Amino acid sequence: MRKLATRTLEAIKYTPGSLLILDQLALPHETIFEPILNIQDGHAAIKTMKTRGAPAIAIVAALSLAVDVATRAAKHEFKTVPQAVEFLNSSLEYLKTSRPTAVNLFDAAHKLSVVIQDSAKKATSPSEVTDAYINAAEKMLVDDVQDNKNIGKHGAAFIVENCKNKEDIRVLTHCNTGSLATAGWGTALGIIRDLHKNGQLKHAYCTETRPYNQGSRLTAYELVYENIPATLICDSMASALLHQNPSVQAIVVGADRVAANGDTANKIGTYQLAITAKHHNILFIVAAPSTSIDLSTKSGKDIVIEQRPAEELVTITGLLEGKNIPATVRTAAHGVGVWNPSFDVTPSELISAIVTERGVAVKTPGKSEFDMKAFLQ
Ligand code: MRU
Repeated sequence: MRKLATRTLEAIKYTPGSLLILDQLALPHETIFEPILNIQDGHAAIKTMKTRGAPAIAIVAALSLAVDVATRAAKHEFKTVPQAVEFLNSSLEYLKTSRPTAVNLFDAAHKLSVVIQDSAKKATSPSEVTDAYINAAEKMLVDDVQDNKNIGKHGAAFIVENCKNKEDIRVLTHCNTGSLATAGWGTALGIIRDLHKNGQLKHAYCTETRPYNQGSRLTAYELVYENIPATLICDSMASALLHQNPSVQAIVVGADRVAANGDTANKIGTYQLAITAKHHNILFIVAAPSTSIDLSTKSGKDIVIEQRPAEELVTITGLLEGKNIPATVRTAAHGVGVWNPSFDVTPSELISAIVTERGVAVKTPGKSEFDMKAFLQ
């Protein structure tokens, strides 16, 4: 059953035993919270992109299992510790099949499986294992907000320190990396929030982010909500904007996976923004929690890029003129072939800095790659 709510920037509402997610496909037209009752609901919300954004995907997956297991534990479904362990582990494996690129999901599943394993070693009843799982999943929600606040602080300071004209800082961002993509505050958009809060931001620009319009539907919505002075451009306008407006001194984006050498997978269109940043000699900054860094992936060529349905590229969703009814219209000729990769990989050589909650990773002078392993130590 769908539940209507007031306008809010919260994408994940959790209280023990209850999880609601904001249906991001309905934004900006409607604010609809949907209950997630079990792992099947969690998996579907992620796959259909009602929940999206690397950190939010991981948290919703983890919490969908928390509410599912809480319901089962209340009904005394688990008679033994191994039964509880088997259910939790197989559920994590299932949740991992929802979307392939954002590593935060795999990182969360790994950390949670360690919690399950450790608690099972000393548990005398199944509820000890399920409680340990639930506590660890709940902690991920809390930690993500704090991590984002730290990313915002470090990123804003880095931009102010490294931009040429501190009196007129304008920043361009891509996709949606804000409260809607995380547990709260955001990564790249969190940096923009911090700059604005500190009175250091003159203007933010956001791309439309075709084909799924996370920029126009979600980032524009967040910027308007926060009263941050902002302008929407379509993806093909970015180079022209930088050419005409030297006050745009940084492009700040999020990440779905950062390889050990700093190559970064992020929303399709990020790579071309990095090229134009290089050409115009401005900062190109990746902002992500350290849970987005995947040391087991050596470079970008090892990152699996999700292919999305053709439907997303040949249609666009809007609101029927004069009526409050969302409608999808076809925008491409029937019969045309479609290539729809959800992400691209920006090579490390084009990235000025990778901002995490731990601080800012930069390259050793003369090197074209980052050493993310050394950074994390
Ligand atoms: O396909 P999406 O909307 O999940 O893609 C989102 C992005 O690419 C974001 O930039 C990334 O996940 C970081 S969100 C803080």
